[in-house]
Amino acid sequence: MTERLRYGWFVNFMPTAWNTPWARTSPQDWVTGDFYVEMGRMLESSGVDFIMLEDSVTVPDTFGGSMELEMKWTTRSPKNDPLPLAAAIGAATKKLGVVVTMSTTLYPPYLLARALSTLDHLTRGRVGWNIVTSVEDRAVQNFGMDTIFEHDHRYERAHEFVDLVKQLWASWEPDALVMDAATGTYVDHTKVHPIDFRGQWFSSRGPLNTLPMPQGRPIIAQAGMSNAGRDLAAAHADVLVSAPQGIAGMKLYRDDIRERMERLGRDPDTCKVLYMITPIIGETVADAQAKWRRMYTETDDAVQRKLALMSSGGRIDWAKYDLDQPFPPDVDETSAIAEYRRIAPERTVREHIGGASQSESLTLVGTPETIADEMEEAMESVGGDGFLFFAGGGGLITRRYLTEVLDGLMPELKKRGLARDTPEHTLFKDNLLLG
Ligand SMILES: Cc1cc2nc3c(=O)[nH]c(=O)nc-3n(C[C@H](O)[C@H](O)[C@H](O)COP(=O)(O)O)c2cc1C
Repeated sequence: MTERLRYGWFVNFMPTAWNTPWARTSPQDWVTGDFYVEMGRMLESSGVDFIMLEDSVTVPDTFGGSMELEMKWTTRSPKNDPLPLAAAIGAATKKLGVVVTMSTTLYPPYLLARALSTLDHLTRGRVGWNIVTSVEDRAVQNFGMDTIFEHDHRYERAHEFVDLVKQLWASWEPDALVMDAATGTYVDHTKVHPIDFRGQWFSSRGPLNTLPMPQGRPIIAQAGMSNAGRDLAAAHADVLVSAPQGIAGMKLYRDDIRERMERLGRDPDTCKVLYMITPIIGETVADAQAKWRRMYTETDDAVQRKLALMSSGGRIDWAKYDLDQPFPPDVDETSAIAEYRRIAPERTVREHIGGASQSESLTLVGTPETIADEMEEAMESVGGDGFLFFAGGGGLITRRYLTEVLDGLMPELKKRGLARDTPEHTLFKDNLLLG
């Protein structure tokens, strides 16, 4: 295979590693955005196409019915708003795509459309939107609701939401800015149109009050795993980021999305499917394996932290289930659990959450050469488009981990023609979608 792959890196605007070897101990390092801005520069100069900034707005207390362990282990808090960080990363880079997460359940469509349009200007055409619908009751309780909408209903609303914001982005014709000195006219008002959108759940008059965006609209990223999530992705996504398990799961997922896109009349090649990975890199394979074992040693704290993470997303309190039994039948079916069950229904909860997590499509442990081999082989079998790095799973992010991937693995991928020195184009959509 000679065609280059696409690469993104997924981060939470949260504390970096602070009490482990190779950590920085000052909270100033992350809370000011310094770490992530520096990381943006490093990604760009290493050939990674985009950074993707996670978001959620909750201080969970599901695990054991208390905030204590969630906060002790910083599962979802403290966290800063990713939008200002996106602007800061954009200002420090020239070609890196910057994808921000914004929820269709929490944002009013007009404010979301305007914020992303502004960010596309600030980054000179490099913004992306990770469409999420949110999952937490505790999040919507900050916005005047008691419980979050039911899963599929959230996606029905999301379809309408995206239709609306796309109309707002199109409410200015591309040549509306005339700056005609003779008549003293800045904008030709005949090229700016109200949208008068009246849907089942949202309405907005429009037009948007920003100039047309450098990219026309942001790149749309999505991570749907469920039927409803995949339908939204098939209708709108330019890039999919997810963690279906193993090569068979990755292929099934990609084929399914491509079929759905075809049914909707979209060219499947206009959406890139990237898979989440957390490569563990060593000088030798044995060295990497030892590192992996150290990272994933199932101390009581490590198991509890994972359970807290799993609880933090929803309503299931994992503190109350028996770790040495399979998933209990009365547990709410979530995409993650459905995927666990698909892989091995008889496995116990402890076995499922042990080792590599559900946030990895492939477990990659080795030297840059052996890992690049596995990535290349996987893409040949799956027919896929690339990878989303994520330093989760084993702990919080360090500069050392970044260096291992960016200065260890990326050069090996470049040698094989699977990566570029830096992104080539100035618009994110061109880096993502052009050859
Ligand atoms: C790489 C990746 C990033 C995600 N980022 C967020 C996020 O920032 N905020 C959020 O609320 N959900 C996030 N999610 C959750 C997804 O939006 C989605 O809800 C999840 O993959 C389950 O799929 P489903 O909604 O179709 O059931 C992310 C998922 C993945 C795989």
